[in-house]
Amino acid sequence: MFHSIAVLAGDGVGPEVVVEARKVLGAVADRFGRSLSFTEALVGGRAIDETGSALPSDTIDLCRQSDAVLLGAVGGPKWDDPGAAVRPEQGLLGLRSELQLFANLRPVRVLRPLIPSAVLRGDLLEGVDLLVVRELTGGIYFGPRGRRRHPSGEEAFDTMVYSTGEIERVVRVAGRAACARRNSVVSVDKANVLEASRLWRVTASRVLEEEFPTVKAEHLLVDAAAMHLLRCPRRFDVMVTGNMFGDILTDEASMLAGSMGMLPSASLGDSGPGLYEPIHGSAPDIAGRGIANPVGMILSAAMMCRESLAWLEAADCIERAVECVINAGARTADIASTDDKAISTVEMGDRIATAVRELSPAEATA
Ligand code: IPM
Ligand code: MN
Repeated sequence: MFHSIAVLAGDGVGPEVVVEARKVLGAVADRFGRSLSFTEALVGGRAIDETGSALPSDTIDLCRQSDAVLLGAVGGPKWDDPGAAVRPEQGLLGLRSELQLFANLRPVRVLRPLIPSAVLRGDLLEGVDLLVVRELTGGIYFGPRGRRRHPSGEEAFDTMVYSTGEIERVVRVAGRAACARRNSVVSVDKANVLEASRLWRVTASRVLEEEFPTVKAEHLLVDAAAMHLLRCPRRFDVMVTGNMFGDILTDEASMLAGSMGMLPSASLGDSGPGLYEPIHGSAPDIAGRGIANPVGMILSAAMMCRESLAWLEAADCIERAVECVINAGARTADIASTDDKAISTVEMGDRIATAVRELSPAEATA
């Protein structure tokens, strides 16, 4: 079997972590006898430098023709001027919207050996296993925005817009995920203030009640959700929320897993290729130093195998390989405690790829 993968390495640490994910995918391809082709294209800041656009049309065409898209990260100080006409982030947002990737799955699993180095108290973290389903092509990220004159100078506005259909489809993704997990969905909004959130809440309630009667549905306001995520993270199974709330809550949730560098994501539509990227950004402060954690990117590649390539044994094997090397003490700087010796991005990738090759069949699926 053959799969074509578009690789958009992007900016900052993006290229460094993408190389490691390709290495690990090469190892599963060898192990399970499938062939993968990787084709690179430009996105983000590097695309701006080379073509003037953050999302060249060649890149969109390549993605549409591929089975899946792997993306590193976009952005960096070089392109951060608030007055700039084009921004690297437009590349990523454009891709999500062009490919209609409305559901962003961000699983947060706490690996036990990382608990001692986490910033939160260990007894709260044991057994945390949650999934945030973030709406990705609507809300305040995509609503009308602009600037206009104002007596004090100028005013600027962004608008949060959600339609019934947009809410229904992402809540269905959450409902289906919950049925395969622990049958609970918490929908997060700000319905005490925002009209878009009031439509979100009634729509989410209706979809969950009518279409997922076995799933326990609850609603939380986003401020309370942010608090409960730290107070008792174990109580959450699936959370579903809008674009901006999901962005913020998943950075928060990453600290449960020890580091932003650990978390993968999958962005999916109704059909067509999925987009797989770690939740961390381009991390310009550490780019080029070979110390970035490639695990979030590698786990995103595992999600790609599962969601877009229907290749479950590869997904399981990569996830087990990551657990194995973490259990064996492999730590990049972001997850190292003071007495661990931190290893490089490349070394972490090498160890995971080796584990993929060497795990026994029982270990690879356990
Ligand atoms: C993320 C990032 C992006 C977002 C940025 C880079 C546009 O923070 O994927 O979480 O806000 O969605
Ligand atoms: Mn983010």
